[in-house]
Amino acid sequence: MSNANEKNKDISLGEKNDTGSYDYFVDSTYKKNLQTLLLEKECIEKSQRFGISRRHFLRSSFGAVAATSIFGQIAGFSSKAEAMDGFISPSEDLYQSVATTTSFTRLDQSTAADWAIIENAVRAQQQGVVDTIMNMINACRGYHLGFGPDQFTHVTQAATRARRDNASDEMILVCLVHDLGKVISNLAHPDIIAGIVRPYVSDGSFYLLRHHMEYQWKHYGHYIFKPTNGRNRYVGESWHADAVRFSDEYDQKAFDPYYRTDPIEAFLPLVEQFFGTATPRKNLTHQICFG
Ligand SMILES: [Fe+2]
Repeated sequence: MSNANEKNKDISLGEKNDTGSYDYFVDSTYKKNLQTLLLEKECIEKSQRFGISRRHFLRSSFGAVAATSIFGQIAGFSSKAEAMDGFISPSEDLYQSVATTTSFTRLDQSTAADWAIIENAVRAQQQGVVDTIMNMINACRGYHLGFGPDQFTHVTQAATRARRDNASDEMILVCLVHDLGKVISNLAHPDIIAGIVRPYVSDGSFYLLRHHMEYQWKHYGHYIFKPTNGRNRYVGESWHADAVRFSDEYDQKAFDPYYRTDPIEAFLPLVEQFFGTATPRKNLTHQICFG
């Protein structure tokens, strides 16, 4: 890591203002002070092709428990403590459950004892789902994708608006998670997040999340060659009214940097309510195919 002087010398994003000093522009809307800029530059230096820091990517994609399991495979971390920096940590017991491994090299040579170890690890990993979702939300800090407010602000603000509108708990949750798939792929984000949360929410919320862009296009589709009436094909669906409310009242309004958005901690009980279960719904593909 370069020292502070080298960092200062590297900064080339500044623009001279009328008073002769420098403003630092991250985008056309927001000025940020030098300290913030240096932190973001450090983050960029550490980033891979995903456009976010390696730690943030790991935090979002694998979650706390998985991160402790894979840290040894990731070059650049000198210790478990370093790999864990910034993560919501699992307990030591939980970590041990996940870290204990089998030694077989082929599945057809595994034993009942091996599967007891694996089953234990699977159950332990399930206890990390709440932390994983919270880490995914936190991974959206500083992740702008061209928008003024970052994606963290956007999703927490959408959820705050839903809560203040006395929406259902599930609608607030949908607002909170609806864009988290962008951590993996912006273009594929509706299908990604719909798949992630499907075992924890109703089928209506699954379809709402899967198709939420077609509802959003009403507000800007004419600028990007998308149909502004794409939502109309779902008028007869049971979840259509919720999707309209989500899109028009919460999602499309949640880009206001001056809105008093609730802190992430305020949503932890909600995340625990939906994701803190040892028995998520399973075999959903089977249900689609065979009723
Ligand atoms: Fe959104």
